[in-house]
Amino acid sequence: MEIISIDAIEILDSRGNPTLKATVVLQDGSKGTFMVPSGASTGIHEAHELRDNDKQRYHGKGVQKAVQNILSISEKLYFREFTQESFDKALIELDATENKEILGANAILGLSCAFARASAKFYNLPLHEYLYRMKHSISYSNKKRQVKPQVTPFANVINGGLHAGNDLQVQEFMIIPLKGDFTYKTRVVSEIYHTLKSLIEKQYGKESTAIGDEGGFAPALSKSKEALDLLVEATKQCGYSEEIGFALDAAASDFYNTETKKYQIEKDLHLDYKELTQYYNELLKEYPLISIEDPMAEDDFEGFMYFMANSLEPKEKNIFSNKKKVLVVGDDLLVTNPKRILEAQKEKLCNSLLLKINQIGTLTEAIQAHKLAESSGWHTIVSHRSGETPDDFIADLAYALESSIKLGAPARGERVAKYNRLLELYHNN
Ligand code: PGA
Ligand code: ZN
Repeated sequence: MEIISIDAIEILDSRGNPTLKATVVLQDGSKGTFMVPSGASTGIHEAHELRDNDKQRYHGKGVQKAVQNILSISEKLYFREFTQESFDKALIELDATENKEILGANAILGLSCAFARASAKFYNLPLHEYLYRMKHSISYSNKKRQVKPQVTPFANVINGGLHAGNDLQVQEFMIIPLKGDFTYKTRVVSEIYHTLKSLIEKQYGKESTAIGDEGGFAPALSKSKEALDLLVEATKQCGYSEEIGFALDAAASDFYNTETKKYQIEKDLHLDYKELTQYYNELLKEYPLISIEDPMAEDDFEGFMYFMANSLEPKEKNIFSNKKKVLVVGDDLLVTNPKRILEAQKEKLCNSLLLKINQIGTLTEAIQAHKLAESSGWHTIVSHRSGETPDDFIADLAYALESSIKLGAPARGERVAKYNRLLELYHNN
């Protein structure tokens, strides 16, 4: 396929900060767009998100340089024959830096995903079919796949950390529906979410039902157990206690003191990695927790290793792994980077991959990261960012990779867009 037109504009994300939307048009008129997400609790090893740093515009957060970079390389990409892999490779070569700091990972990802959408149209395939073929290196003209994958939502219903104005240090308290298909799971998540709202209102007053960046509630709590108790109660009131697991994203890099090597897991609680493992083990004993993301800081390999070796088995049977083990999910730890994944596999730092396409910058590399994870028996959770757009690309990606998906609460347009796309897929297929 040859590209005949490329465009990009600066738009806003769900936090009201600038991001970019890229458009790619192929020679037959097939057009694809992509709106790039943006994180708040970003890992230091992520590919570089290029911002203008011009304090006169959007407090320095403008992305006009990234937009300009797309426009300035477009001529070099026109009228050349590309596959997804060769297109991504061309982008990587045009940037020519390890962390994509010249063009910006936001600019590169915009083009990579817009090209995927345009190509899927070119081949007359739904996006998930295109991505599935890409993963399995199957010809794009092959017939439709028959199996319907089971995608499970990790729904963040209580927000803390950098995503909320409360004192919860743990960033995300999630519920995971374990039975039924995605349509049923969405209903379960939504019912629990609304019951949770009533509970919070009753216990903490109606001013406590305001929501955080990912649509979860952000009541003025300070202890992890207070949040988990609310989840237990809401789940019970809805009658789903037997079919729900809980997950945490500690995002521990954000409360780690690199000098003292202590984690401030709660307001007055500063723990080293051994004590922190003990803290998580208490939670594993008491609650149906099946997954903990970034339990330690991104470069605290010793902490991760210790947690992997010493964490207790979850109370719930873990449907995501054949081993009786809590999912230890690497987000800031791995940054969807094949090199970091290989290192983590060698050192046994975690056993699951959080896959964020903008952490690495191209679809080819993101799928490579997933395949690497899969080859070691790891579970993959495709993930949104806290700064999102109504773009539903990751819903198709999770469906294609037959993974789970972390997509926030079933509220706010940019979160709901992903639920709704998956509801459509389960209806149509
Ligand atoms: P972020 O948070 O998008 O703000 O980085 C999400 C996460 O840590 O999983
Ligand atoms: Zn995370």
